[in-house]
Amino acid sequence: MEIAINPLSDVLGAEVTGFDLKADLNANTLRVLNAALAKHIVVCIRDQQLDADSFIEVSGYFGPLMSHTNKHLVDKDRPALNWVTSEDRDIHGTGKIVYRGTTWHTDHSYMPEPPKATILYAVEVTSQGGDTSFCNLRKAYAALPIDTKKRLDGLQALHVYQSSRSPRKNQMVLSEEEEKSTPDTVQPLVRFHVDAKAPNLFMSTTRLENIVGMPREESDTLIDALFAHADDPQFHYHHKWRVGDYVLWDDRSSMHHANPDWAEGEKRFLYRTMVQGEKPVLAKFEG
Ligand SMILES: [Fe+2]
Repeated sequence: MEIAINPLSDVLGAEVTGFDLKADLNANTLRVLNAALAKHIVVCIRDQQLDADSFIEVSGYFGPLMSHTNKHLVDKDRPALNWVTSEDRDIHGTGKIVYRGTTWHTDHSYMPEPPKATILYAVEVTSQGGDTSFCNLRKAYAALPIDTKKRLDGLQALHVYQSSRSPRKNQMVLSEEEEKSTPDTVQPLVRFHVDAKAPNLFMSTTRLENIVGMPREESDTLIDALFAHADDPQFHYHHKWRVGDYVLWDDRSSMHHANPDWAEGEKRFLYRTMVQGEKPVLAKFEG
C-alpha cells in the first residue's frame, strides 16, 4: 500500500495518515516507516486505536523492545511497557507530582546498546500544553563550523546514569539491582547513523559526563558550547499531541524534552516503550 507521509516541519518530523498499525504493518510498510524514521527522526502515525497489548504487539515490529531502567514505572505483567502520565508521583511518598524528562536528553544513552527509538502512544492528552520538544542533532552537527567538526573528529564521551553536569536532579532512586543495569559507557560524540548514513551529535544533558582523555575544564567548555549550539530553535520541533497519536522518534539522532505546562488538574496518559538499538558507531570526519 502507498503510505501518506507528510513533513510536520522543516526541521524534523513527519505525519502518517490513513494507516492502521494493527492491520497494515508488514515487511514492506515496515521498511517504509523505518526509512521515514531515519529521514524525519520523528514519525507520528495518527488516529490509532490501541490498548496496552496491541501497543506492545505493533511496537515489536520495529525491533526487540527494551524495558525501562526504573522498574516501578514498568507494568508488572508487561516488562516492555511503561507510561508517561500527569499522575506520576515521587517514590518517597510525599505525594508530590513528578515531571520526567524536562531537559534535553536522549533515552538510556548510558546503555552500551542504547535504544534505536522510543515510542509513545497518546491515550489521553491535555487541552493545551504538554508538547514534546525534539532537537535534530543531524542538522545541529551539519551546521557546526568546519574547525569544530575537525576538533570533534574521533572524540568519545562518557555517558553515566546521573551526570554531575545534569541540569536536573534525577528524581528516581535506583534499587541495587537497577543500579547494576546502568553501566557507565563510552559513546562516540559524533555518531554515524547507520540507516540515514550521516553523522550527528550524540549527547544528552542528563547523562553526558565528560569527553574522554580531555582535561575537565576543556571538556566542560566544549560540552557547554555544543549544548548551547543545539539549543537553538532552528533545530527544534514541538509536537502537539492528539489522542491516538503513535509517535516513534529516533533516539540515535535527536534529543527531546517534556513540557509540563498544562493547566493544573488536566490529565494526560501515554503508553511508552523503547526499541533496542545497535552499539553506536563513531563517525569519521570526511570534510
Ligand atoms: Fe525521554
